[in-house]
Amino acid sequence: MTTSFPSSNAAALAPLLECRDISVTFRQTRTARDLLSGRKPLKLHALRNVSLAVKPGEILGVVGESGCGKSTLGRTIAGLQAPDSGELRWEGRALAAGGDRKARARNIQMVFQDPYASLNPRMTLGQMLDEVLLVHGLAASAAERRERVDELLLMVGLAPQLKERMPHAISGGQRQRVSIARALAVEPRLLIADEPVSALDASVQAQIINLLEDLRAKLGIAILFVAHDLNVVRHISDRVTVMYLGEVLESASADALFEAPHHPYTHGLLDAIPLPDPKHRKRTPGVTGELPDPLHPPAGCSFSSRCPHAVDACRAARPALEPAAEPGELREVRCIRPLSTTGAALAPVHLHRHS
Ligand SMILES: Nc1ncnc2c1ncn2[C@@H]1O[C@H](COP(=O)(O)OP(=O)(O)OP(=O)(O)O)[C@@H](O)[C@H]1O
Ligand code: SF4
Ligand SMILES: [Mg+2]
Repeated sequence: MTTSFPSSNAAALAPLLECRDISVTFRQTRTARDLLSGRKPLKLHALRNVSLAVKPGEILGVVGESGCGKSTLGRTIAGLQAPDSGELRWEGRALAAGGDRKARARNIQMVFQDPYASLNPRMTLGQMLDEVLLVHGLAASAAERRERVDELLLMVGLAPQLKERMPHAISGGQRQRVSIARALAVEPRLLIADEPVSALDASVQAQIINLLEDLRAKLGIAILFVAHDLNVVRHISDRVTVMYLGEVLESASADALFEAPHHPYTHGLLDAIPLPDPKHRKRTPGVTGELPDPLHPPAGCSFSSRCPHAVDACRAARPALEPAAEPGELREVRCIRPLSTTGAALAPVHLHRHS
């Protein structure tokens, strides 16, 4: 029997992937001045104690401003970046850092923003797909691989005849479909889609989003979907995680998060979405102020320098990511004064606004 996703008992399923307290730092390269003065290079905290879980067949949206650590998170889960600390778990078992890369790639695949850069310009589409099947020993013969290549192209909505083409001879949308086909070749259980539609025209974006939704429904594949466009994230995600300066600030089901954000940053992000109704189409301030230098984040709460609700206590200690007291809702918030408790501007943010 094939299961259609999202399945009604998805909430009850055990996580496929868990990030527990993951931290990643990058050491700044030393300048000549650093060397002369003996100054130690600064550490940039790209991820700070990130915890999240993805269930089988679930689409988890990850949003946040540029530089908040979305790609680092995807790369760390895919095994392309080693965490400094914390633990990744796959189906309840620890994924060893530096463990079997090939085995991890069988379960977890990535699709990137720029499909042109991620495809080999000197190979036909068919050769690229064939190579993946060969490397992973996924077909007994050349004939079987040819059959599977056709199947993969059809799965992403491309005619098998396109396999003779080179990447430059197809459109941007088709190239992203090929990237997805290549990721699917190993039958992964989790796809990390890092801004997969940001480089595409609006009409093509919708087609790729629909394709990802179809693939989830047909294959039951889980997707970590990274994007800037909050409307897209709301449309495709079951749950959403909001990141800021390497931290998770809020996680909740997409409906609950968009209806009533609890973290002031989430509220600001949602408030900045342009309204579809032309009469009310104006941008509200959203999140004001400059994004802090990630090498010198604010003390205490990382959002305190821009938060309209900040008080002294916010700067005194870093808030923990804590479950919100909401029956039936798995929400986590990193804020000592969540909007649910202060009563300040609890959304729905769009529904109350009039010009
Ligand atoms: N290899 C690296 N060396 C040094 N710093 C890095 C490296 N990769 C990322 N960073 C820094 O880590 C932080 C997080 O970067 P990351 O690319 O994960 O953010 P992002 O949320 O994906 O941003 P964007 O939306 O622009 O893609 C940024 O401050 C970035 O400059
Ligand atoms: S902890 Fe304080 S500064 Fe940080 S988001 Fe909450 S209210 Fe704002
Ligand atoms: Mg990125």
